Amino acid sequence: MSETATLELNGKRYVLPVTVGSENEKAVAIGSLRDTTGYITLDDGYGNTGSCQSEITFIDGEQGILRYRGIPIEELADKSTFVEVAYLLIYGHLPNRSELRSFSDLLTENQNLHEDMKYHFEGFSSMAHPMAMLSAMINASSCFYPGLMGPASRDRFNIHAARLLAQVRTIAAFSYRKSRGLPIIYPKRAYKYTANFLHMMFSEPYQDYELKPEVVKALDLIFVLHADHEQNCSTATVRMVASSKANLFACAAAGVCALWGPLHGGANQAVIEMLQDIHDSGDDGSKFINAAKDKDSGRRLMGFGHRVYKNYDPRAKIIKTACDRLLETLQVSDPLLDIAKKLEEAALSDDYFVSRKLYPNVDFYSGIIMRALSIPVEMFTVIFAIGRMPGWIANFKEILDDPKSRIYRPRQVYTGRPLNHYVPLDDRP
Ligand code: CMC
Repeated sequence: MSETATLELNGKRYVLPVTVGSENEKAVAIGSLRDTTGYITLDDGYGNTGSCQSEITFIDGEQGILRYRGIPIEELADKSTFVEVAYLLIYGHLPNRSELRSFSDLLTENQNLHEDMKYHFEGFSSMAHPMAMLSAMINASSCFYPGLMGPASRDRFNIHAARLLAQVRTIAAFSYRKSRGLPIIYPKRAYKYTANFLHMMFSEPYQDYELKPEVVKALDLIFVLHADHEQNCSTATVRMVASSKANLFACAAAGVCALWGPLHGGANQAVIEMLQDIHDSGDDGSKFINAAKDKDSGRRLMGFGHRVYKNYDPRAKIIKTACDRLLETLQVSDPLLDIAKKLEEAALSDDYFVSRKLYPNVDFYSGIIMRALSIPVEMFTVIFAIGRMPGWIANFKEILDDPKSRIYRPRQVYTGRPLNHYVPLDDRP
């Protein structure tokens, strides 16, 4: 017999079905709760709410497990590439040779922005944050492709998905060049996904950037590790917007905005700023740790803690090892890495962090790698957004393909003033 839950309200008992996921995660399904009881549930920050059923990514936060389509992140980090992972997330299986070839070709064919989009870049201030440009330009893309403006369409999904995945990298690189007053560099057909991004970021019209394999590999790994993470703030935002049947580019632009905040993707920039502050102030980290424990200080140990992981974030483990390896290969010594390691050691032996199960997350060491790759700090969250694009696209597709999908529309408990009446201006106190 399948498991059920019983709820007692005002002396009446209600039997609620229990939904069990493929990894034995259990959820009390409350779809009929309001109709049968008149009550809704209240869950601040959605910490206990499953907003959907999804086949894309599995996380076990207690054990520190992350899998894309069932494949452990460690295996993908070691053996796969970002383009292959993108295919896996979006289409549900690892591509065979011919599927991978066609997918890569589709990305290459769609990597150029519409030439008129260049004029949009002209309108931004040179002080504009690249995340602002990224979300605006992804949304502006809708204007250049007839068919994109209308409701989401299954027929055109493959081409739109490829266009978005290929162009996000072009837009990101153009945003960076624009913010530095540098001439725009176009993508090259001969280069693969990540190499092409580095080329568009760092080549000059008179000189091609020298692509070092270890640099390309390190950035590709960062993209792989960020590619999806189930119902995080930005992915939930993408699904929310997608549920209204908005087009893929509009949904992705909304995802970029949600990602920008320092509690989410913006944490990678905030971590480096924090480490730099500690370095500049000559603190050994202990003053900062004390401030992060003091709720009145308004400070947090950035890159630490996670809503789901109550154990070491598996992505942080992989990044930490990659970081050591890259810095050694490039023969770079970064004082911020030493500070980060000392902070981690101090936090992991401090009861405040231990008792709250606060461990380094993906953002703690990723910035150090990006610094070593010469990626400027204001581009860190943009890199996260490029990496997260396959996850957003896959979640969008899940909604598109679901004939039972409904518009997302949470309820609320109203706590405002009870009924009162309009007072004419002259009669107001
Ligand atoms: N430094 C100091 N204290 C912390 C931290 C931190 N980084 N994170 C959580 N806490 C404390 C928090 O004050 C609370 O203490 P108490 O129980 O005494 O009130 C307790 O730990 C639980 O924290 P919470 O804020 O209720 O946890 P949450 O699940 O709502 O927030 C989080 C998760 C990631 C927003 C939070 O841990 C945080 O602000 N971390 C720093 C920002 C960061 O690194 N964000 C990147 C997240 S991973 C990548 C991504 O998803 O984008």
